[in-house]
Amino acid sequence: MITDERVVDAAQIQSTFRRLTPERHPILAQYTRDVVYDEGRCMAPGGLVLADAVGRHLTLQPGQSVLDLGCGRGQSSIFLAAQYGVSVTSVDLWITADERRRAAAAAGLAHCITPWQGDIRRGLPPGTPPFDAIVCVQAFHTFGTSAALVRYLATLLKPGGALCVAQGCFSDECEAIPEPFRDSDGWQADYARYHSAAWWRAHVEASGVFAVEACAEFEDGDVMWEDDVLYRGDRAGWNADYLSRAGWLMQHVRYGQTHRPRLTHLLLKAVRRTPADDGSGALDIPGVQP
Ligand SMILES: C[S@@+](CC[C@H](N)C(=O)[O-])C[C@H]1O[C@@H](n2cnc3c(N)ncnc32)[C@H](O)[C@@H]1O
Repeated sequence: MITDERVVDAAQIQSTFRRLTPERHPILAQYTRDVVYDEGRCMAPGGLVLADAVGRHLTLQPGQSVLDLGCGRGQSSIFLAAQYGVSVTSVDLWITADERRRAAAAAGLAHCITPWQGDIRRGLPPGTPPFDAIVCVQAFHTFGTSAALVRYLATLLKPGGALCVAQGCFSDECEAIPEPFRDSDGWQADYARYHSAAWWRAHVEASGVFAVEACAEFEDGDVMWEDDVLYRGDRAGWNADYLSRAGWLMQHVRYGQTHRPRLTHLLLKAVRRTPADDGSGALDIPGVQP
């Protein structure tokens, strides 16, 4: 008998949680949910819905170069290379370059995806050519709270190059992790870096090296959490193990249906400033040519 008090009522979750719809997110009409969520291999909500959003916000052109930062298993890298004909350097800390190389080859895209495993806080290999764009799906909070890191990212971009982040966040800024979110099976470190869209806008602007063009809550950013719970539940057959393992998250999502803050997502687009933009005549980044 299961005694974990976090075990939740599957029927209640299934009847009250909402799904993302193709009417509001057309990518869902193009691909099955298994494709959108990479057969459950996505490491956070959103999957192709977020990858598609960053691609559209960047208006990528064939032949451009993209750094996919914190790409996990590389789904967003494959999607962007296939959809826009861009070349992608896919960078991740935990997932090996070999795993992503195999995935790129299986998609027939080995020639345009360069996987690299490493910690962006230690920098990319010296001599890496600058990129037209940096995308970061569901990973920016793990390193992007550092002002120095944000400034470093600008050095990886061509002048006028853009950074686009799609990311889980709280709907409101909180000084500490709100009480209902404290029991999170190890997700505390992530919640501690979850901020509101307004916080991220101010943070990236304050770097002085980016002009933030857009930073707001993602359309259906809260529903995205609910849809993720439903998708994973459907895959698991709503078994007791899934309800126990993910019960904490279901409680958090349910809390947000009636209280604030709620879990949601944001989308940020920022363009690397040129000296002319900031009026100072120079970017204050050692070694970076305007
Ligand atoms: C929540 S997962 C998201 C992965 C993927 N984008 C997705 O949506 O499935 C966060 C990813 O960020 C990567 N990551 C965390 N810190 C990193 C760092 N300092 N440098 C590079 N990648 C990092 C982790 O390896 C992990 O795969």
